[in-house]
Amino acid sequence: MFKLNAATLTIATALAISVNAVNLGVRADEVLCRPTGSFSCQGSPNLPFPTLGQIPNFPLVIGFANTNDNTSPNCGDCYELTHVVNGETRTRFVTVGSNSDTGFINMCITEVRNLTGITGPLPDPASIRVDLVERPRSLCGL
Ligand SMILES: *[C@@H]1O[C@H](CO)[C@@H](O)[C@H](O)[C@H]1NC(C)=O
Repeated sequence: MFKLNAATLTIATALAISVNAVNLGVRADEVLCRPTGSFSCQGSPNLPFPTLGQIPNFPLVIGFANTNDNTSPNCGDCYELTHVVNGETRTRFVTVGSNSDTGFINMCITEVRNLTGITGPLPDPASIRVDLVERPRSLCGL
């Protein structure tokens, strides 16, 4: 017989929370901080802004996998990003505007510092973990 105990409850809760969420590392990227910086979705019909700085929630614009060029349907997708610092969950709404390596997002370094509270050298990108859940684009001001 299946016995319900604290451990199985913890696992069940974790699974419920992780539905549709993707857990990724975070690479700090200076280019994503520059209002006139280049972005791979530049010219996308989904993100019709000539400059990065015109994206409504700039500088909360991220690079995310499968956004290789401005024809990607992922351009302009809006995600709710969460990161836990000392038990406190921090939330940001971020717009996909550029590309990244699989398993990571790229994010403006100032926003990485704000999110993590790290002021000194940033650790290995793979050790900065965030969860992303897709949300309506309107939550990113689109
Ligand atoms: C940190 O980010 C939050 C949420 O985006 C924002 O409200 C706050 O002003 C930022 N703080 C700094 C110092 O940029």
